[in-house]
Amino acid sequence: MKKPNYIVMLLLGCSVLLIIKPGFCQQAPGDLQYDRKDADPEKLETFPPSIFQHWIHRVRYRCDACHDTLFKMKLGVTPISHDLMDKGKLCSACHNGQIAFDAGFKNCNRCHVTEEK
Ligand code: HEC
Ligand code: HEC
Ligand code: HEC
Repeated sequence: MKKPNYIVMLLLGCSVLLIIKPGFCQQAPGDLQYDRKDADPEKLETFPPSIFQHWIHRVRYRCDACHDTLFKMKLGVTPISHDLMDKGKLCSACHNGQIAFDAGFKNCNRCHVTEEK
């Protein structure tokens, strides 16, 4: 008798779960460095775009804390501005000084840093 092919079964199982719940079998990517194409390059050197590290957030949150309610699963697709963040949206759903540090002047460079190589 032929042995069941566990790898095929696993892949099939994973595909079924993916249809029910997209992202289920996916690992969160690591550090995401935002890009600000329209900004003055000189300014960007002293004040880089924000970083977002999945691994720091994954310690506390599951994917569905952010996807797709707050953010799409594609870097740069969700329009992010401090006007929206000031209204408690996007990052500031948590970065409001209560759940996590706020987006005030003490903390600019906790998010606006360049990825360490
Ligand atoms: C919780 C993380 C976080 C903190 C803290 C933060 N920012 Fe941002 N900021 C972002 C993200 C994310 C974006 C969108 C990606 C980008 O353009 O860097 C952004 C965008 C910006 C932009 C371009 C878009 C816009 O709304 O004007 C500027 C300028 C900016 N931040 C300045 C600041 C300054 C100044 C501070 C401190 C007072 C600050 N940021 C603090 C996350 C943060
Ligand atoms: C605390 C919030 C948060 C959590 C939790 C989170 N993500 Fe994300 N994820 C983001 C943000 C922010 C982006 C960038 C979205 C944008 O710029 O529009 C992103 C982007 C992504 C991207 C696209 C990366 C790229 O380079 O385009 C993938 C894939 C992704 N996340 C998968 C996951 C998975 C899988 C999990 C759970 C294991 C997860 N994320 C958990 C906030 C989160
Ligand atoms: C679901 C809640 C949640 C959302 C949404 C969220 N964060 Fe966070 N973030 C946290 C928590 C909690 C911490 C760790 C606690 C702390 O340091 O205050 C953290 C830590 C961080 C850190 C680590 C900074 C350091 O100095 O250790 C950065 C950078 C960061 N977040 C950026 C972002 C950016 C940028 C966004 C939006 C694109 C975002 N976060 C969205 C909850 C969130």
